Parts: sequence; C-alpha cells; structure tokens
Amino acid sequence: MNTYSFPPKFLWGAATAAYQVEGGWDADGKGESIWDRFSHTPGKITNGDTGDVACDHYHRYEEDIALMRQLGLKAYRFSVSWPRVLPHGRGRINPQGLDFYDRLVDSLCAANIEPFLTLYHWDLPQTFQDEGGWTNRNLSYAFADYAALMVKRFGDRVKNWTTFNEPGVVAFAGNHWGGHAPGIQNQKAAYQVAHHLMLAHGLATQAIRGADPSAKVGIVLNLWPAEPETHSPEDAVAAQSTWDQQETLFLDPIFKGHYPLSVYNTVGDDMPAIHDGDLALISQKLDFLGINYYSRHLVNAGGRVERVPGAEYTEMGWEVHAPAMRRLLVQISREYDLPPLYITENGAAFADEVSADGQVHDPRRLDYLKQHFIQARLAMQDGVDLRGYFVWSLLDNFEWSHGFTKRFGLIRVDYDTLQRTVKDSGKWYAEVIRKNQVEE
Ligand code: FCB
Repeated sequence: MNTYSFPPKFLWGAATAAYQVEGGWDADGKGESIWDRFSHTPGKITNGDTGDVACDHYHRYEEDIALMRQLGLKAYRFSVSWPRVLPHGRGRINPQGLDFYDRLVDSLCAANIEPFLTLYHWDLPQTFQDEGGWTNRNLSYAFADYAALMVKRFGDRVKNWTTFNEPGVVAFAGNHWGGHAPGIQNQKAAYQVAHHLMLAHGLATQAIRGADPSAKVGIVLNLWPAEPETHSPEDAVAAQSTWDQQETLFLDPIFKGHYPLSVYNTVGDDMPAIHDGDLALISQKLDFLGINYYSRHLVNAGGRVERVPGAEYTEMGWEVHAPAMRRLLVQISREYDLPPLYITENGAAFADEVSADGQVHDPRRLDYLKQHFIQARLAMQDGVDLRGYFVWSLLDNFEWSHGFTKRFGLIRVDYDTLQRTVKDSGKWYAEVIRKNQVEE
C-alpha cells in the first residue's frame, strides 16, 4: 500500500456557489439575478429546472455546517449572491441578505471551519445586465464598491477573498456561446466582458485591501490543460493555441501584466477597448491563485479529440485524467511567478443511486478523488506550492444549464424532500482529512 501524507496545515475543504445551493431566490428582499432570469426563461435549462429552491441552503445552512463538521472539513468555499445583499447591485442594501451571510460565517467560525468567500460566482444582479452587463465598464467600478462593502461587514471573520470564479466561463459561456446567463452570442461582447472582468478583479483587489490590509486576495481560474495527442509539431501547435485562447487570456494579464499576443492576433476586430493603466491594475500581486481542475483537452491538428480510446468519462462527458493535473500545476508554476495555490474545485458527476440500504455507494467518485489527491501530492513533491484542496461539491446541486441532472456532491440531496445523505465518497473523504493522508 502506498501512503501519501499531506503537510499538517493542508486545508481540506469543499465548495459550493450561491445560485447552485441557496434557493430562496426572492426571499427576504433578495433582488433578481441574471441566473434567476435565465432559468425562468423556457428552454434554457434541462427539464426547466431552476435554482428557486435548489438545496434550500439558505434555510438549511445550519444542517449543512453540521454535515461539514461530520466530514471534518477545515475550510468551506462559498459565494455571496450579490443581489441578495444589494438587490440592484448598488445603492440600497438589503440588511436581511447581509444577516444571512453573517449567520453563515458565524456558524462556520464556531465550527472551526475557515470561510473562503467568493464575491462573484456568476449571479450578476439583473439590473446591471439591463445596463449592458459586463460589457459596460462602469460595472467594474460597481463591483469594487460591492467588494469593499463585503469586506467591511465580514472582514473581521473572513480572511480569504476571491474576486471571480472562472472569468472565462462568464465571458464565453455567458456571452459568446450563450449557454449560460445572460445567454448572449456575440464574440466581440465576450472579449470586452473578459477585459472588464479582469479590470473589476484589479479594482476589487485594491478595494479589498483598502478595507482590510490583512485580507488575502485571490482569483479562481478554470484551467483545462490542452495536451497534444502525438509528438508531431502540428499537434503541439494545435494544443498550444487551444491553451492560449482559453487560459493564457487570463493568466497572462494577471501574472505577466499583458495580454497574450497569440490571442489578439486571432481576435481581429473583436479586440476589446483597453484603457491606459488597466493592465497595471489587473496585474497586482495576489495572495493566492485558485485552480478549478476537472479534466484536460487532448488536441490534434484537426481539433479536440472527442473520445480518447480507453479513457473513462464522467456524466459531464469529461475525460477522467488525473496526471494532467500534476503536469498543469508543475507547468504553470514554472512559467509564471505564482502566489500559493489552492485547488478550489475538483470533483466528478456520476449517476448515483440510492441503494436498498439507503446509502449512496459511489466508488467511481471516490476513485476519481483519490487519483486527483495523489497527483496533487506528487505535484507538491515536484515543488508546487499547493496549500489546500476544495472538493466540488459539498452537496449535489443545480448544475447550471444541466439543471439537477448532474450530481457532483459528497452529500446526496433528494430534491423532493431535500434530505441529505453522506455518500461513500464523503465518508472516505472524512477519513482522508482525519488522517491527513491518502492510501492507495
Ligand atoms: C465549474 C463551476 C462550478 C460547477 C463545476 C462543475 O465550472 O465553477 O460552479 O458548476 O464547474
């Protein structure tokens, strides 16, 4: 048996996002978000599902924190719903919204679970979308004001602040492909959105530090390594260009202070408006980088390999390939001058079932997590400064355009009764945390 031990302070956690778990979509003065609007639009979400109730975490957070304790989580990554605290995104504050996050944070602290707060996990106040959404430069400034407000309220207890979750998905799934809210299909808009998200990140980084100099600030990127199928130069070029289009578009401005030339050579007329000084704001030193890793793209000169022979796939249609995570961590640590890293999301959707014994036996998820934890440990041996790991997700939840059809949780949620059941993978994870090691 091989044993992989982790450093004493390694931060084992789990992650969720407001719209995916909270429910209470119009409770207690909450404003409408673009995800409320989108999911209420017929035809956008599988089965017409919405996040109106989701896991009802808004009302059941105490029970969920008790489950976190049961798992022994050291940290919990969650997001604040901007329109819950500022119904129109700016101006009038909703005290009941702030109170909810107060209670959540207090209960986490009482349970000795470190809160990792994400300011933006996709649920933009609808009022802003009516003003052009992230194509409107003013929104970047409004975001920084919202960030400062949150730090003033929660900064005494919350020390780890993430500006954005996956700006690439916001820009391209939301504004180019259109499968996510707000459902716009416009490449030029998407690039402008990408730049304004970066700008908002920079402005918010300043605002957070202004409100609490001891705050730790980071951003979360979804990094899908693009690996060439063969050793041919054509495949290598194709893989590099896939990687550049999607990943260096965000890594470079943040960690190198410029946009990658390769991307802007291909963007042509869709080049966004960038003001003098923007890149200096965007490239401020960060305290951490969060990486969401799920899978890789295998690429050849003809494009992406849709089905890798012999590979295992999850319910999302994503290849299970843990070694690419180690290669990714090592490669970016070499190429960029990075702050400490966290895996802020990693996990897998499988079609779980409740067995006759009432339990959820999910050996494939357990194995997926085990393989990835091991690769993370190996990356650390290679010199990668990885400080913690958040499993996606604590609970089965609303998986965006897929509605409730994809289950990622360590804990099953019965969407009729809202009953929670810790899956085998969750029990196994509790043991990993308790021993601070993975056994193979
Ligand atoms: C990530 C998102 C997260 C979840 C997982 C499966 O892209 O950040 O909200 O949907 O994918």
